[in-house]
Amino acid sequence: MIYFWPNLLPIAVFSTYIFFGNSMTLSVAVASLILFGLVKDPMTELPFFFKSWLEMMVSNRRIQKFMLCDEVQPNIHKKVDEAGMTALSVVGNFSWGFSEKKDKKKEEEKKKYKKTAKKAVKEESKQISEAKKSKKISSIITLKDVNFQVRKGEFICIIGDVGSGKTSLLKSIVGDLIYLAEDEIARCGGRDAELEETQLDALRKKILAPEYFESEANKPIKIDGKVAYVEQNPWIQNKTIRENILFDKPLDKTKYVRTIEACQLERDLEILPAGDATEIGEKGINLSGGQKARVSLARAVYQEADIILMDDPISALDANVKKKIFKEVF
Ligand SMILES: Nc1ncnc2c1ncn2[C@@H]1O[C@H](COP(=O)(O)OP(=O)(O)OP(=O)(O)O)[C@@H](O)[C@H]1O
Ligand SMILES: [Mg+2]
Repeated sequence: MIYFWPNLLPIAVFSTYIFFGNSMTLSVAVASLILFGLVKDPMTELPFFFKSWLEMMVSNRRIQKFMLCDEVQPNIHKKVDEAGMTALSVVGNFSWGFSEKKDKKKEEEKKKYKKTAKKAVKEESKQISEAKKSKKISSIITLKDVNFQVRKGEFICIIGDVGSGKTSLLKSIVGDLIYLAEDEIARCGGRDAELEETQLDALRKKILAPEYFESEANKPIKIDGKVAYVEQNPWIQNKTIRENILFDKPLDKTKYVRTIEACQLERDLEILPAGDATEIGEKGINLSGGQKARVSLARAVYQEADIILMDDPISALDANVKKKIFKEVF
């Protein structure tokens, strides 16, 4: 069809030309056909151009979304290798970041308004919207006054309502949340202080700077040993099942088989077309929810980390499998 549609152009043009009462002469026909011959190739390419253009737009949007994300706080962890009993300690306030997600509809309305409104009204609305952008410090803190200690050898379950901050606590341990020190909050005027966008920007720049945590004593997260993290939404790489589990660690056959057994993956590997060499599509597209959860869990088990953080790792599994995994893995 792509290659055929430019051939329809002369038929359409000549028909329209004659339909409007013009007479077709040889000179007009020959000149037109030469012209059609010249544009035929570019027209064949046109659908490919639109396809590439759409792909470019989608990629551009994804890259922009990534580039506009808040930075992670560097040097937030203190690796301790103490003879003491503490394996993990998290103390302080943590925030998901200060950036506001833009509402598309509101943005469009704003654009429309900007075009039509008079200058004075515009100024007034600008002042109002700027005032609205100010935020209370307490509204940007997701986890307040955390004081969480885990002793070596402990198995801890965190229970809480939906949206109560269980995932946020685990993410703060791996450094995805921004730590807000109590003295920094006091310097800004306390938790009830309203900060405008420029002040929030200045605060963000200050606490995201690498030198902010230069002093070892200030670091809010103290960890003794290696950490493995199982996300609530299983994270699967676009690789084979085996590569997903090994996660760049060398293959230890006995440990690998034991991990597969413990995570109840044996049956899945029998069903999958190439066993553990089955290539997993993007975001685990060819795996079920339960399979993704078990592969993600197996990766953490295989790492033999000192501290394993698991966020709802067995919620997607049926009762029988849950029971076996609880017995074998935990
Ligand atoms: N990526 C994020 N960006 C900004 N805010 C977030 C993000 N994820 C969670 N939050 C906010 O953090 C708060 C705690 O959410 P969190 O996901 O930690 O809860 P949860 O206890 O894990 O809930 P659930 O039981 O549903 O898993 C919520 O108010 C939520 O809106
Ligand atoms: Mg959660």
